[in-house]
Amino acid sequence: MQALLEHYITLRQLHVGFVTASGSLFALRAFATLAGARWPLSRPARVASWAIDTGLLSAGALLWAALQLNPVVQAWLGAKLLLLLVYIGLGTMALRRARTPLGRLAWTLAALVCFAWIVGTAIAHDPYGPLRWLST
Ligand code: HEM
Repeated sequence: MQALLEHYITLRQLHVGFVTASGSLFALRAFATLAGARWPLSRPARVASWAIDTGLLSAGALLWAALQLNPVVQAWLGAKLLLLLVYIGLGTMALRRARTPLGRLAWTLAALVCFAWIVGTAIAHDPYGPLRWLST
C-alpha cells in the first residue's frame, strides 16, 4: 500500500478528471436523447462512457486501497458506494428505460442531483454531502 500511497496525488487527479468526464458525458448523452438524437445510444457513445466509468471506478478503488479506508468506519465512502448504485439505476432509466420525454427529463435531473450529491459527499467527507454546508 505504501507504493500506492506514493501515487496518491496522481490517482486523485485521475479520479477527479474521470469524474468530470463521466458527469459531462452523461449530461450530454441524456440531454441529446431528450432532444431526439440517436447517437447517445450508439456503440461509440456507449464504449466511451464504459471506458471513462471504468477509469473512474479503478482510480477510486486504488485510492480506497492506498488510504486503507473502511466504508463502514468512513461512512462518507460507504454512502458514496451506495449512491453510486442509485446513480447507475437513475442513469439507466434516463437513457434507456423512460418512455416519455417528461419521464426522461425527470430521471435525468434525478441522476444529476445524485451525481452532485456524490461529489458533495466526497469533498465534505460526510455522508450528508451538501447538507453539511447548509447546517454550518
Ligand atoms: C460517480 C461516482 C463518483 C464520484 C462523482 C466521485 C467523486 C469524487 C471527488 C470529487 C473526489 C475528490 C474529493 C476532494 O477533492 O476532496 C473523490 C475522491 C475519492 N473518491 Fe470518489 N467519486 C466517485 C466514485 C468513487 C468510487 C466508486 C470510489 C471507491 C471505489 C471512490 C473513492 C474515492 C476516494 C478513496 C477518494 C479520496 C478521498 C481523499 O482523498 O480523502 N470514488 N471522489
